[in-house]
Amino acid sequence: MPSRWIDICDLTDIPVRGSRVVRFQGAEIGVFRTASGDVHAIDNRCPHKRGPLSEGIVHDGAVTCPLHNMIIDLKSGMARGADEGCVAVYPVEIRDGERVHIKLSAA
Ligand code: FES
Repeated sequence: MPSRWIDICDLTDIPVRGSRVVRFQGAEIGVFRTASGDVHAIDNRCPHKRGPLSEGIVHDGAVTCPLHNMIIDLKSGMARGADEGCVAVYPVEIRDGERVHIKLSAA
């Protein structure tokens, strides 16, 4: 399937240990920035009951869903611990030291 990179925001637009939401062709993507400065993009809907992951707490390279506390690894998109489930993960690149790009599949 063809894909393309899109420029979504400046790195400073994403708070450390926070997130922002990008909507593109019906997808809702949470873009997260960890305490160490890594940026990850995953589907914004929790695999449990579609809780808004972008409103969760970012910690240890993961986000805790705000609804029922499932922990989703930001790198793999997989649930941690005893929970099962996963979300789609989108490749991220920081270009020119400041612009955040994510790779999306074209519709
Ligand atoms: S909706 Fe995320 S843990 Fe239930």
